[in-house]
Amino acid sequence: MNIFENAPQTEPERQYYFIDIAKDLLKKEEEKAGRKLTFHVTTFGCQMNARDSEKLSGILERIGYIKEESEKADFVVYNTCTVRENADNRVYGRLGILNGYKKKNPFMRIALCGCMMQEENVVRKIKESYSFVDIMFGTHNIHELAELVVANLQTNAMTVHILDHGQNPVENLPIDREYKFKTGINIMFGCNNFCSYCIVPYVRGRERSREPKAIINEIERMVQDGVKEIMLLGQNVNSFGKDLDPVMTFSELLHEIDQIPGLERIRFMTSHPKDLSQELIDEIAVSKHVCHHIHLPLQSGSSRLLKDMNRHYTKESYLDLVDRIRKAIPDVALTTDIIVGYPGETEEDFEETMDVVRKVKYDSAFTFEYSPRTGTPAASRPDQVPADVVKTRFDRLLKEVQKYGRERAKELEGSVGKVLVESMNREDENLVTGRLENNSVVHFPGDASLIGSIVTVKLTECRGFYYFGEMVSE
Ligand code: SAH
Ligand code: SF4
Ligand code: F3S
Repeated sequence: MNIFENAPQTEPERQYYFIDIAKDLLKKEEEKAGRKLTFHVTTFGCQMNARDSEKLSGILERIGYIKEESEKADFVVYNTCTVRENADNRVYGRLGILNGYKKKNPFMRIALCGCMMQEENVVRKIKESYSFVDIMFGTHNIHELAELVVANLQTNAMTVHILDHGQNPVENLPIDREYKFKTGINIMFGCNNFCSYCIVPYVRGRERSREPKAIINEIERMVQDGVKEIMLLGQNVNSFGKDLDPVMTFSELLHEIDQIPGLERIRFMTSHPKDLSQELIDEIAVSKHVCHHIHLPLQSGSSRLLKDMNRHYTKESYLDLVDRIRKAIPDVALTTDIIVGYPGETEEDFEETMDVVRKVKYDSAFTFEYSPRTGTPAASRPDQVPADVVKTRFDRLLKEVQKYGRERAKELEGSVGKVLVESMNREDENLVTGRLENNSVVHFPGDASLIGSIVTVKLTECRGFYYFGEMVSE
C-alpha cells in the first residue's frame, strides 16, 4: 500500500492521517532504541515564530515524541529567523554543535524550518555543507510536519519541501502552548510593505488576513482552556481586514475580541505607524481589556531616510501620532524598534533619530545595527555606512534609550498595578515573577498557586528596568 497515494487530499484530515502513521513508525524506532524518543524545538526570531513553534510542538507531541528541555533530544527542530545576518550565523554555528550530538545518537533527526528556509541560497548551502540535516520546510507549510516526518522515517533520505506562496492557513491541528495562561494568535500572515531594508515580505509572502470568525472561535477555545492573555500577531496589524470580504478594520476586530468573556488581557504586535488610525486609538482608550502598550517601530527619525526606507510617514507625522496616542491614553507605554546605520545615514539623520528618542521618551526600544539582506533594495546601495561609524552611533543611541527607559520605569515606583504571574522567580524560591500591563517585569513574594492569575501589586522598588513589589488587596 502506498501511504502517500492513499492520503486524504483535504486538510487537516491529511495531517491527522500522517500523524497516525508517524505514531506507528515512531513505535518501531523506539523498539529499536529500547527507550522513548524525545523532541526539542528551538525558536529564533519574532513572536510569529514563537507561535509557529507551539504548532510544531503540538504535532510532535501528538505523534508521541516526549518534550525535552535540551537540544540533546532525538528530534530537534530549529525554527529559524533571517531578519538580520547574525540570526543566520547563530543557526549555522549551532548546527555544528547539533552534528556533534547526532554522531553519538543514531536515532537523532534534525529538522530546519522558518524564514531562512525561504531563501534559495540557504537551502543550497545546507544541502551542500550540512548534509546531516534530515528535514527542511518553509514558512508556508509548517502544518505539514507530520507528513514530512513520515517521509523521512520511511526513506532516511533528506526530506525537503518548501513552497513559494502562502495558502489558506490550516486550522485545527494540535497546538502545545508554552504557557497555559498566555499565547499568541495569528490574525494575519505575510507583509505587503516592502520596507527597503527588510526581508520579511520575501520570506513570509503577501498579506493574508484570517477570517474574524475563525479568530474569535480560536480565542474562545483558548480562554476555555485557561488563556488569560492573548497577543494578536501580524507584521502590520493595522492593515488587518483590508483583503477580507466584507472588509473589516483592526479596531473592529479588537472591539469584538474585547467582548470575549473570561479574556483578561489583549496585546497586539506590530503596529505600523503609517496606518494606525484614530479609530484604533479611541478603541484602545475605551476598551476593557486591551493593554495600554503600543509597540510603534520608528526605524529612523530622519524624514529623508524614512522616505528612502519606504515607510510612508515623516518625523513630524510620527510625533503627531505619538501626541494623539498620549492624549487619548495618558498612561500608555510606548516601545519601538530603531535601525542605526541605514545606507546613506549622515550624522544629521542620526541626530534626527536621537531627537525623536528625546521627545517621545520610550519606555523601551529595540535598537539594531543595519544588516544588508540579499535581494532587498537597500542591500545593493553603494553608500553603506562604515562599521565603526555604525558602532559609535549605536552606542550613543543605546545610552539615550536606556536613560529614558530608566526614567519612565522610575515614574511608576510606588504605584499599584495589575500583574499576570508567569513563573516562580529563577533565583529566589520565595518570589514569583510576572508582568505589568506595560510588559515590565515585577518580582514579589508569593507561591506557585499564583501562577496564571492576575493580582494587584504595589511596586515598592524600581531596579533599572524591573521592579520588586508586594501584593495588596484591591
Ligand atoms: N513588521 C514590523 C517589523 C518586523 S522585523 C514593523 O514593520 O515594524 C523587526 C524589526 O527588525 C524591525 O522593526 C526593524 O527595526 C528590524 N529590522 C528589519 N530588517 C532589518 C535589517 N535589515 N537590519 C537591521 N534591522 C532590521
Ligand atoms: Fe518588514 Fe516593513 Fe513589513 Fe515590518 S512592515 S515586516 S519592517 S517590510
Ligand atoms: Fe525573523 Fe521571520 Fe520573524 S525573519 S523576525 S522570524 S518573520
